[in-house]
Amino acid sequence: MQDKIEDNLMEKIVSLCKRRGFIFSGSEIYGGLAGTYDWGHFGVALKNNIKQCWWKKFVDNRRDMYGVDAAILMNSKVWEATGHVANFADPLDGKQFNTMLKTQIGAKKEEVAVSYLRPETAQGMFVNFKNTVDAFHPKLPFGMAQIGKAFRNEIAPRDFLFRQREFEQMEIEYFVRPEDWEKYFEYWKDETLSFMEEIGVDMSKVHEVEIGDNDRAHYSKRTIDFEFEYPFGQKELSGLAYRTDFDLKNHKLDYIDEEKNEKIIPHVIEPSFGIDRLVLVALLSAYHEDEKGGETRAYLKFKPSMAPVICAVSPLLKNKPELVEYANMKVFAPLKAEFGRVIWDDNGNIGKRYRRQDEIGTPFCIVVDFDTLTDDTVTVRDRDTGEQERIKVSELIEFIKNKLD
Ligand code: GAP
Repeated sequence: MQDKIEDNLMEKIVSLCKRRGFIFSGSEIYGGLAGTYDWGHFGVALKNNIKQCWWKKFVDNRRDMYGVDAAILMNSKVWEATGHVANFADPLDGKQFNTMLKTQIGAKKEEVAVSYLRPETAQGMFVNFKNTVDAFHPKLPFGMAQIGKAFRNEIAPRDFLFRQREFEQMEIEYFVRPEDWEKYFEYWKDETLSFMEEIGVDMSKVHEVEIGDNDRAHYSKRTIDFEFEYPFGQKELSGLAYRTDFDLKNHKLDYIDEEKNEKIIPHVIEPSFGIDRLVLVALLSAYHEDEKGGETRAYLKFKPSMAPVICAVSPLLKNKPELVEYANMKVFAPLKAEFGRVIWDDNGNIGKRYRRQDEIGTPFCIVVDFDTLTDDTVTVRDRDTGEQERIKVSELIEFIKNKLD
């Protein structure tokens, strides 16, 4: 079965994403725009679950992390100071092509200024380093965290979400005393792997790759790429860089260590995730096929906490008002109020509904049938095994809460 799954896996994922409302080509009705994608209802939900998991783990659950949401447009002096204007380039026909996306600000000709759509979220944090220190007085080590869009004028966007011109990053700049950098580099390596595991990445396909001196970004003294075995080859999923004091120094920023009464430039460890690649890897890791009722079925085996939909509620027959009313009032409404990510599905016969929910990755399908009207129980069908059990309506919320934990 595994060989069969690997056949045309990317095509299967791309077509499932479109068919089931996860991800569409950008500007599709006008022929598309290379390197852009639009997100549908379930894609947004999956992406939000990944972002929320990251924010909870690295910001809300910690005492040493400060959130930021900086402007995408930044003064072009930022990119001159960081070396991006000079160095952020890819080779194109023997020349270096700067991959920052340039734009113009201002309406009157004489006032027009060049600006760039940020190629990394990182600088939005570095330029707010002083604001953060002044506002919160953090002690070293501490970090800044940001989730947001980044833009690169990639020469050859390709492989679905893998290489786009507009994408999203989740980045942390972790400030440490210079002598502590190795300790925290190791620490963030472990945290990176544990986050991937939490969101359901197939860890057997993740590889740590040490990046050599000639291949590192201009700001980094040590980089590890976490690569994933995609169907199109083993390539980068996320990165971990030791940015030294490169950025703070170039922005002429420093820090007073009040305990030691000295002025220093902290060094930076940067765990950086591309959300789009994480979504792609989450989809690839979750995709399974098996045989059910003599047919091949495809299903996304998301962890319940990551699934775009936690449960779907159906009346067995949609032309029986007593079933519809019960399902709506006594099952769907309370579950929706409790979990939010709950959908009503009465389209087609039950078999078709199950297949559809399997492809969306819905862990539980709940059906209200004629027995429900007499004994207040419903069937709950498990996505992975296809098995059904009868659960008391009064115990449904608790039952699902336990599965989410
Ligand atoms: N601040 C460091 C930085 O931006 P990077 O390795 O250039 O480092 C970080 O980018 C992450 O952003 C990558 O590991 C990848 O997940 C994601 N990424 C980079 N370029 C991308 C692109 N064109 N399309 C989708 N994701 C991209």
